[in-house]
Amino acid sequence: MDHDEAARLRSEPLRVAAMFGRIAARYDLMNTLMTAGLDRRWRRLAAVEADLGPGDGGLDICCGTGDLTIELARMYPHSAVVGLDLSEPMLIRARRKALRAAVGAADDDGRVRFVRADAHEPPFPDAAFGAITAAFGIRNLPDLPRAFSALWRVTRPGGRLVCLEITTPPAGPGRRFHAFWFDRCVPLLGRLIAGDGAAYSYLPASVRAFPDAAGLAGLLHEAGWRSIRFRRLGMGIVALHVAEKPASGLAGGGTS
Ligand SMILES: C[S@@+](CC[C@H](N)C(=O)[O-])C[C@H]1O[C@@H](n2cnc3c(N)ncnc32)[C@H](O)[C@@H]1O
Repeated sequence: MDHDEAARLRSEPLRVAAMFGRIAARYDLMNTLMTAGLDRRWRRLAAVEADLGPGDGGLDICCGTGDLTIELARMYPHSAVVGLDLSEPMLIRARRKALRAAVGAADDDGRVRFVRADAHEPPFPDAAFGAITAAFGIRNLPDLPRAFSALWRVTRPGGRLVCLEITTPPAGPGRRFHAFWFDRCVPLLGRLIAGDGAAYSYLPASVRAFPDAAGLAGLLHEAGWRSIRFRRLGMGIVALHVAEKPASGLAGGGTS
């Protein structure tokens, strides 16, 4: 899939979600193969950064099969956690995994629940969450300014947004590895293991269409987020951004 095709697909959230629905059954296995199992460690780091206080709710957007949602529930046993995704086949797997992990996802009234919704329009009241997380999700959102403003609205003042995402590393060995692995190996693995080469050629194309780590920090700032920092993981192929909603003052989508 080339850049233009990926951009067209990315502009239609329901088509993107349908694509993830097609690969849901093999999604976890592909993650393990693509990252040599490091994805679990990266999600744990993201959960630590969420830093949920007692009584804080957590929202994990683009939760997919629920690994980060479940990690949040484990790490913060006094918090209620919501996983949000647009793909029902992914959510079905997430609900099953949360039940198996015994983190309290008995039903929609449990401590962990999963809702089908678009991350651009989170169906929650203002300031409902102490932290919002996203692992390998925001790259799929066509309107990042709108999404970051919407997430700002549902975060309490002083709360956090934590984004873990594949990124283009700075020039050097990391970038060469990134190009070789994501452009050549991942689509092949996707064809062989997930039976869907197109979905896994969307992955590198969507990374190319996505802002680099500094650009992403700039978009967060424009949406009103502050104290923005990021670090690179895994030879720079992944970036972990943390941003805070100021405890008072600035309105959402702020520019100061
Ligand atoms: C690459 S998966 C990431 C899943 C999971 N967070 C993880 O760590 O593996 C991206 C997920 O984003 C979901 N998604 C894509 N666009 C979305 C949107 N506009 N709103 C909500 N979820 C979306 C897809 O359905 C898919 O499950």
